[in-house]
Amino acid sequence: MEIKKMVVAYDGSSESERALNWAIDLAGKIRSDIVVVSVVKPPEFSPTVSEIEEFYEDGEKYFRPLLEKVEEKVNFLNISLRTEILRGHPAESIVRYAYDRRADLVVLGTRGNGGFKSLIIGSVAQKVVTYSKVPVAVIK
Ligand SMILES: Nc1ncnc2c1ncn2[C@@H]1O[C@H](COP(=O)(O)OP(=O)(O)O)[C@@H](O)[C@H]1O
Ligand SMILES: [Mg+2]
Repeated sequence: MEIKKMVVAYDGSSESERALNWAIDLAGKIRSDIVVVSVVKPPEFSPTVSEIEEFYEDGEKYFRPLLEKVEEKVNFLNISLRTEILRGHPAESIVRYAYDRRADLVVLGTRGNGGFKSLIIGSVAQKVVTYSKVPVAVIK
């Protein structure tokens, strides 16, 4: 099996940063491309259509500078990395994206931003491991 394309799920948390660093390290060794995706969740309460749009735009504003930093991280490394902001439910979006774009590996952290600390593994990570057809590496 060859790993030519990795999808790294990045929510800005220190755990996802570690997963990203792991993927960058591996990509340098096996010459894989990386796509870093951040998913903006839909609002939890039923707002109007224009409020939904505004909500997504706020989320994109939050992720954009973080993803610029991610791009800078590999500036002087010989690694092909691009970033993308998706809209939707995180686990579902990550699973579908990786499958549709024919990724060879999905990389994510055990925990992320928020969630219940009593869970050993976050709910997004749990769902991605459960539903992904693409192999998943959960970085501890
Ligand atoms: N909105 C998101 N966009 C991209 N990746 C995400 C998102 N949410 C979670 N992830 C990925 O899933 C990992 C686990 O996070 P999660 O399951 O949400 O844990 P928690 O419940 O602690 O927030 C993160 O380290 C990150 O790799
Ligand atoms: Mg989370």
